[in-house]
Amino acid sequence: MPHQNTIAVILAAGKGTRMHSDKPKVLQTLLGETMLRYVAAAARAVAGQVLIVVGHGQEQMRSCHPDLAESFVLQEEQLGTGHALQVAWERVRASGAGHCLVINGDTPLVTPADLEDLLQTAAEGADIAFLTALLPQAGAFGRVLRGTDGEVKGIVEAKDFDPGRDGPDTGEVNTGLFCLSVNSVENLLFSLTNGNRAGELYITDLVGLAVESGLDVHALRREDAGALMGINSPLELARAEEFLRAGIVAQLLASGCLIHHPEGVVVGPRAVVEPGAELTGPCRILGASKIARGARVGAFCQLIDTVLAAGAEVREFSHLEGATLEAGAMAGPYARLRPGAKLMENARVGNFVEMKKSVLGPGAKASHLTYLGDAEIGAAANIGAGTITCNYDGTHKHTTIIGAGAFIGSNTALVAPVRVGQGAVVGAGSVITKDVPDGALGIARGKQSNLPGRAKKT
Ligand code: UD1
Ligand code: CA
Repeated sequence: MPHQNTIAVILAAGKGTRMHSDKPKVLQTLLGETMLRYVAAAARAVAGQVLIVVGHGQEQMRSCHPDLAESFVLQEEQLGTGHALQVAWERVRASGAGHCLVINGDTPLVTPADLEDLLQTAAEGADIAFLTALLPQAGAFGRVLRGTDGEVKGIVEAKDFDPGRDGPDTGEVNTGLFCLSVNSVENLLFSLTNGNRAGELYITDLVGLAVESGLDVHALRREDAGALMGINSPLELARAEEFLRAGIVAQLLASGCLIHHPEGVVVGPRAVVEPGAELTGPCRILGASKIARGARVGAFCQLIDTVLAAGAEVREFSHLEGATLEAGAMAGPYARLRPGAKLMENARVGNFVEMKKSVLGPGAKASHLTYLGDAEIGAAANIGAGTITCNYDGTHKHTTIIGAGAFIGSNTALVAPVRVGQGAVVGAGSVITKDVPDGALGIARGKQSNLPGRAKKT
């Protein structure tokens, strides 16, 4: 349960220069979800309220996360992590929270348990609690300074670190995760100065200031906190994504999913794969997908926000987004199902069939080379090879309805809006612009004439 007395502030206004991308860094994705989604989910799990400081690319941030926009606080100029917190402070104050968690937005592997540890330390009376890590190579991370008895003295950014002044580099670094007592740190926050190499207001300077003012500062050192370090480069992003991927796949295997070539299987954090579901890598199951027990996904498939019921099967090289396959339904190889595609029980689509916002009734089939858009197809109907629903007139989309048991001959164009009745048959090669009644045969094509002897070449 989130702590109502706690507010979390996610710092996400920076550009992320080292990513070499026009996107704000926190919009980079891991397993199909933005960094910001991971951090916001961890924050929401423990904090009653969440704020997100945005700045660089804020319009993109809003359009990617409309559901989070209420939490956004704008930092117009990125003058440093301390400045980012200052910008959010008015809303922190207004929230009435006693504790403020601060989380760097580029730390997608942070878990609610990490944040709970900080809150626990704060609940025991710390004015500032923060997580540190021991790294074999401390690189560009802020160094934690300790006194002779191991007591924390401050944090010095890598750029400003001077062994002559600060002592030997111990490899203990700041992860960027803090829990602050709102009342205790307020004055210190607004007394930060930018007398450092970057000319920024550093949140990390709060630690030294708090120690000097006699506040209670706790650094929780983690031996295994490599995963908590921020992502600053494409290489770090790839490593973090692989760490998450391997963890999810290992969990699925342990729970009883059948996974062939697991090293190529990608399952997003929101996807549900039930024990007894069968996946063959390489494949990607992303978004809010759900693969039920007994359902199968073949190699080289991508499923996003797609639901497979028991016994449904997606064969190799298929691409599904926002699709639903009921029990025993089958798609592919080489199927493309777009949002709103639904295959009811035992329905089938085969190779090079595209469906969008269309329902294939129980046992209905579209086996080859077909486009079904804005169509409702009745039970056991058969859609011949090369059938196209012409659903778009250049301005509007229109619906095609095909009744149960209807048979659509190959290479038919159904010009919507149009209805083919139950049990009706459409002759191959037809361009159907008018409704075909139940049980009728509809043919709309040029008549064949055979001209004897005319095949001879002169
Ligand atoms: C920061 C810490 C460093 C720590 C490291 C851990 C500071 C000064 N340094 O360094 O001690 O070891 O994280 O990963 O805090 N941001 C804003 N507004 C700004 C500047 C930054 O919102 O004006 C956001 C960024 O979008 C980012 C986060 O704050 O999500 C951290 O900023 P970043 O530039 O990545 O800090 P580091 O140099 O990695
Ligand atoms: Ca960083």
